[in-house]
Amino acid sequence: MPDDAWAALADAFVDGAYSSVKGRVRTFVLHQQLLRHLPDPPATVLDVGGGAAHQSLPLARLGYDVTVLDQSAAMLAKADQRVRAEPEQVRRRIRLIEAAGEQAEVATGGERFAVVLCHGVLMYLDDPEPLVNVLCRCVEPGGVVSVMALNAKTLAVRPALDHRWADALAAFEAGSEVGVLGADTRGDTVEGLASLLQLAEVEPEGWYGVWLFTDWMELPLDTTDIMAVANVELQASLRDPYRQLSRVFHLIGRRSPGPGRLRERPPNDHS
Ligand SMILES: C[S@@+](CC[C@H](N)C(=O)[O-])C[C@H]1O[C@@H](n2cnc3c(N)ncnc32)[C@H](O)[C@@H]1O
Repeated sequence: MPDDAWAALADAFVDGAYSSVKGRVRTFVLHQQLLRHLPDPPATVLDVGGGAAHQSLPLARLGYDVTVLDQSAAMLAKADQRVRAEPEQVRRRIRLIEAAGEQAEVATGGERFAVVLCHGVLMYLDDPEPLVNVLCRCVEPGGVVSVMALNAKTLAVRPALDHRWADALAAFEAGSEVGVLGADTRGDTVEGLASLLQLAEVEPEGWYGVWLFTDWMELPLDTTDIMAVANVELQASLRDPYRQLSRVFHLIGRRSPGPGRLRERPPNDHS
């Protein structure tokens, strides 16, 4: 892995993917889903692998105190650019930290957050468990952990729609795919990540799809009514069978209000 694997992807991601109809739908739908679970602001939010802060900047605008932690200097530079364009009262609610998510406890000085986000990151890791454990240790009792991951159960859809039938057939048994930006991405299941959360004393309390129809069609930015699409996607994301077909899913858990046994571990102890 190069030092900053995301340096080469940052432009495509921030200026391309996020500003597409699908990217805007993703940000909107995830935001609406989060608001169903988050405490009212002010509250602290840690966004692990937060990239250019697309998900956490709207939270800072609402009054949350946001820490964006990412291992990519290039992605954080994009975040910094976006934060600088905000009014002063929003800017001062955002902190950027360059660090690996696995080191989040040390990098944040052992702080516990009301909300811990980790969206679109687990799919780039060979094993999600170490990072999920860190996320769960960074959240305060009663706090919320939110993860968005690639849906391992729907990997055949995209190759089938591309008429790549051999790839689609193989995808039923595959655990990963080459993502839209050419990077390898690994799929998870709701059940698998839910049990990792539970093992780390975070009780799953809801899961959603994120985008469905916009993944299956090219929608031009200039002629598409984005809110009309986003409202349809939001409704699909909330219910079966639509949410099960989404290419990514959003899982939210809550840490029990008690202190818990994982809390006994000091923040810099990685044994
Ligand atoms: C697809 S982007 C998602 C950004 C943001 N979470 C969002 O949903 O808009 C993936 C981000 O995860 C970061 N990342 C990947 N692995 C990481 C790790 N182990 N620790 C910290 N950041 C990581 C990358 O640098 C990149 O910024």
